[in-house]
Amino acid sequence: MKQTERPIAVFDSGVGGISVLRELVRLMPNENYIFFGDSKNAPYGGKSLEEVRKLTECHVRHLLSEGAKAVVIACNTATSADVSILRKEYPDVPVVGIEPALKPAVQFMEHPRVLVMATPMTIREEKFQRLMARYEKDAEIYPLACPGIVEFVERGELNSAGLKAFLYRLLKPYCEGTVDAIVLGCTHYPFVKDAIAEVMGNTVEFFDGGAGVARETRRRLMEKELLYTGDRKGRVIFENSAATLEKLRLCEILLNSK
Ligand code: SIN
Repeated sequence: MKQTERPIAVFDSGVGGISVLRELVRLMPNENYIFFGDSKNAPYGGKSLEEVRKLTECHVRHLLSEGAKAVVIACNTATSADVSILRKEYPDVPVVGIEPALKPAVQFMEHPRVLVMATPMTIREEKFQRLMARYEKDAEIYPLACPGIVEFVERGELNSAGLKAFLYRLLKPYCEGTVDAIVLGCTHYPFVKDAIAEVMGNTVEFFDGGAGVARETRRRLMEKELLYTGDRKGRVIFENSAATLEKLRLCEILLNSK
């Protein structure tokens, strides 16, 4: 098999990274993809740095052994913990990570009030702290650790009354027009965007990093002459450490959601 014909691996702590996979497929529909979700160990956001690194490295090694030509870390938590280590370990493989889409949120209007929703680890890690320092004079930035949302998405609860009650408790201080924009800084969160919007009750702009990651992946593949340019129709293979039929069905539903 030619190098360009090999699949792109997409990794996440669970099913959330499918929000990034969706953008990759939209931009590069002729590529083949292997999506691996570590739902058995999700969520990663409350684990120790060492644990997240160990899990991420183990799964990336497995994906490369399956012949992946590039790896997308479609998980903000795993990216902040491990992407620089992975890049050193695999210098010849494009390794693309994701970070909260703070830049477009800060630039969409003059000095906006921006709420950044992410996992406790993403908020705590140096990568996000540096990102926030870069933009803090251009906006009011409110980082909010949101443990608990990932579990709803993993259960396929994307708009339930229980989810909305949970979100309402979490977001109450930011409702009623106190923020202009929300950054969805965890790849699970785009799947509950409608529920978040409903709970906020007023108009806010939403930003997530999925489309940017897809563009960056294409750029890195082109740079390494790894982009597939034929007319084959691409396919997606789902792998999940939970490996239940129900989980694999949820993966398909999320991929085909808008
Ligand atoms: C998690 O597993 O806690 C969330 C994954 C992410 O940060 O995107």
